Amino acid sequence: MAEATETDFYDKVFPVPERVREKSYVKSRAEYDKLYKESIDDPNAFWAKMASERLSWFKPFDKKKVSDWSFEPGKVHSKWFEGGKINVSYNCLDRHLADKKNKAAIIFEGNDPNDWKVYTYQDMYREVNKFANVLKSLGVKKGDRVSIFLPMIAELSIVMLACTRIGAIHAIVFGGFSAEALRDRINNCGAEVVITCDGTYRGSKAVPQKATCDKAVDQCPGVKTMIVVKRTGTEVAMKEGRDIWYEDLMAKADRYCEPEWMDSEDPLFILYTSGSTGQPKGVVHTQAGYLLYASMTQQYAFDVRDEDTYWCTADIGWVTGHSYVVYGPLCNGFTSILFEGVPNYPDFGRFWAVVEKYSVNNFYTAPTAIRSIAKEGDKWVDMHDISSLRVLGSVGEPLNPEAWWWYYNKIGAGHCTISDTWWQTENGGHMILPLPGAIDIKPAKAMVPFFGVVPAIMDEDGKEIKGPGKGALCIKKGWPGITRGLWDDKEGRFEENYFSQFPGYYFSGDGAERDADGDYKITGRVDDVINVSGHRLGTAEVEAALTSHPDVAEAAVVGFPHDIKGQGIFAYVTLNHNVAKTDELKKALVAHVRKVVGPIASPDQIQWADGLPKTRSGKIMRRVLRNVAAKTFGDFGDTSTLADPAVVDDLVANRKKLG
Ligand code: WT7
Repeated sequence: MAEATETDFYDKVFPVPERVREKSYVKSRAEYDKLYKESIDDPNAFWAKMASERLSWFKPFDKKKVSDWSFEPGKVHSKWFEGGKINVSYNCLDRHLADKKNKAAIIFEGNDPNDWKVYTYQDMYREVNKFANVLKSLGVKKGDRVSIFLPMIAELSIVMLACTRIGAIHAIVFGGFSAEALRDRINNCGAEVVITCDGTYRGSKAVPQKATCDKAVDQCPGVKTMIVVKRTGTEVAMKEGRDIWYEDLMAKADRYCEPEWMDSEDPLFILYTSGSTGQPKGVVHTQAGYLLYASMTQQYAFDVRDEDTYWCTADIGWVTGHSYVVYGPLCNGFTSILFEGVPNYPDFGRFWAVVEKYSVNNFYTAPTAIRSIAKEGDKWVDMHDISSLRVLGSVGEPLNPEAWWWYYNKIGAGHCTISDTWWQTENGGHMILPLPGAIDIKPAKAMVPFFGVVPAIMDEDGKEIKGPGKGALCIKKGWPGITRGLWDDKEGRFEENYFSQFPGYYFSGDGAERDADGDYKITGRVDDVINVSGHRLGTAEVEAALTSHPDVAEAAVVGFPHDIKGQGIFAYVTLNHNVAKTDELKKALVAHVRKVVGPIASPDQIQWADGLPKTRSGKIMRRVLRNVAAKTFGDFGDTSTLADPAVVDDLVANRKKLG
């Protein structure tokens, strides 16, 4: 990895390989510049053209109302393609039947390499129609919410598309959340129907999916029906009058369900994500703008062609899976692999075995996965023929130079490009990324804005930085994929969270740096959100879980550098008087957090702290805690406002002991 450690590594430019450019939609930076300029100069004309050409409408949108948005305080709103009537499942399935009914839509690759199945567009169409009828027969109507707690099985994509067919709003919860977290999400959206399965596999482990769902739903008074997919065949308790097997319902369901004509701005789904304060936020996306943005970015970000095999390894429980396993690729009529497994099962070559098996051309994964397999050595790659790969995507967190280099050099073998895509749950799709055939790449830079996206970097005084510089990353203009708000947002958190720091701008919570060529590098979160294995977690959520333990008086959580996860979770805990500081208690606290939030929030390190560094006004100085956790002891900046500066010496001494 010599190259990656050179000091000027970040300034190196890696030109687009000819093999990539040949198949690319946009073939030069000049061509990108021209298209980008068009999209910015007359956004309504640009997006109207895209929406008319790329989507199938039951009723066309009003050409005079292509967009209506404002980021001004007190007036924040976004509406796109008003007057139009559309159905997402129709766009993802029905319209492809004429010329693609026997083409693979979803290739399901199970946890066990011998367990795989191809679903053609016709197969998906049939199953989705049937399940839409199942939902209807259970009384689910347009606008009703359906909570989904399923692992990465084909039925997940079927039930979500079935929801869209009848205009129900799905709210998918990632399988790594606890029963309590699931309960809160079901109650927040008010779902009456929940869909889960008996059990699931994660590598060599069996996971009791329904048991977790049962625990949650026991405390969801609004839930009337639980639909249970049979996955593992393990024995589960079926609650009389509430639980029904998916297979029994499907056996009786009619084959065709008329798609509901939805308004462009009707909600499509709710997806919960973490913020720097309070409870998780239910991000709402709507029909037409989201679908257009997800599908267009999917095609352009990875240069996917009709004949390609495309694989996004993300879990559908996150937005990446929504946009880039299901809605984007299917709207485009492409073939998408839906992978149930993990990168290290049955061995560390699994990704490359799957690439070889289906001859994958466009591959999209996360830096944490790349790091975890890179460290196992090249032999797991060398065992497989991965020469079909053309575009390598990355998402979720900044790629570190070593991981970037391994991905580029070892996986890409000099004939692939890397598309490092920056975006967020709230964005619907990619915002900053190097279009593969057009943009020569620089290591670990997301490079340039997508069409219609206008980024702005803000300085500490809230002023926009022109030209090169470093600061807070904002978006200046509306785009079709932006979230329309938060579900059940009585307190106005949407405006407060995203539009108050820099009035008139959408604030991402990330920092960014723009170089002299105008290319962007994402530098990480600048708020109290941490990024663990590419999953967003609010430090406040983990702190609330810790302080709900009877022995804990106070807790402060920060991120710290972690070799595989990017950021690990570091918790400073102040115990109640007379509670002994034991290793057993540390274990109990980790277990407690797993129970309250879920395994994804497990603290990696706990340090006992008799006091936390607070200012005289009682605010915790997180900068100090971050530096102590990272063991950068020399640089605490201005600590003169601390109520008790001696606390810092204590923290440092204890951190050194922790190792
Ligand atoms: C946060 C969004 C939507 C993608 C999956 C995560 C970080 C995302 C990159 C990237 C550096 C990235 C940001 C962002 N992030 N992509 N290419 N380079 N950082 O979605 O849970 O909504 O998290 O992930 O910090 O704000 P999410």
